[in-house]
Amino acid sequence: MGTNISSVSDGINSDAAKITGGENFSPGQAPFNDGLIKIDHLEKTYAMGDVEVHALRGVSFNVVCKEFVAIMGASGSGKSTFMNILGCLDKPTSGTYILDNINVGSLSRDELAFIRNKKIGFVFQGFNLLSRTTALENVELPLFYNSTSTKLRKEKSIEALKKVGLEERIYHYPNQLSGGQQQRVAIARALVNDPSIVLADEPTGNLDSKTSIEVMEIFQKLNEQGITIILVTHEPDIALFAKRHIIFRDGKIISDKFNAEPNKASEVLKTISSIDDEVKV
Ligand SMILES: Nc1ncnc2c1ncn2[C@@H]1O[C@H](COP(=O)(O)OP(=O)(O)O)[C@@H](O)[C@H]1O
Ligand SMILES: [Mg+2]
Repeated sequence: MGTNISSVSDGINSDAAKITGGENFSPGQAPFNDGLIKIDHLEKTYAMGDVEVHALRGVSFNVVCKEFVAIMGASGSGKSTFMNILGCLDKPTSGTYILDNINVGSLSRDELAFIRNKKIGFVFQGFNLLSRTTALENVELPLFYNSTSTKLRKEKSIEALKKVGLEERIYHYPNQLSGGQQQRVAIARALVNDPSIVLADEPTGNLDSKTSIEVMEIFQKLNEQGITIILVTHEPDIALFAKRHIIFRDGKIISDKFNAEPNKASEVLKTISSIDDEVKV
């Protein structure tokens, strides 16, 4: 018997993260009992012909609601593999993954798809928008899986596009939008099902630095509204906007620290705007 899907709770657990700041826990073992995500000794091995690639070698990791985590580490250290498992896109070779009190390892493919659609929004480095489709239609896509009515689909999508400041551009096609605007469409698409978690794998990797900070401003706003954010970045400046820093090396967590004073993207943007103004004068 699989997990009863109706037992999946909609709401986010109300106990907020107590971000104390500055402490270094043993890797992946932040002392939280009341987790949104609990991962224990996760391993992922890819078989490549005769060779086995150990992408994850025993990762343990807890996240409570409303955290904002930046995951860093060299290329090939297992970050994307980890995010794909967190996002229920892939299954681990061994170890357990509990998401909101559901043991993800015990779910069928359909149940996994349900959880993914209901709880998790994804944002990728390359935006992954359909090019012949308007911003609005791109955002509507995830709603086609839940038999939402046409009217409600449009309303929810416009609401999500408003959250990212793109209400003026809903009928634009991706090639009529800047990189930053395309990423905002992708964020709106991630939000349209009201997820409790947004997973973003190098979301600023294709953006210039000011646009990257604008994207981080959106993530910070969403986080303040209660959405848990887990973001992969290789840019230390971007990680400074997160409340917790985790570093991967060779498929393991080697450092897990809270950032007591995250930079505030809206403040940083003000200083950048004033520099731009000075240059214009
Ligand atoms: N689908 C796959 N098949 C085989 N090996 C893979 C696959 N995906 C990732 N890997 C390998 O797993 C390791 C971790 O990759 P990845 O998770 O993409 O790292 P990162 O995102 O940190 O760059 C790398 O050695 C990579 O080559
Ligand atoms: Mg990667």
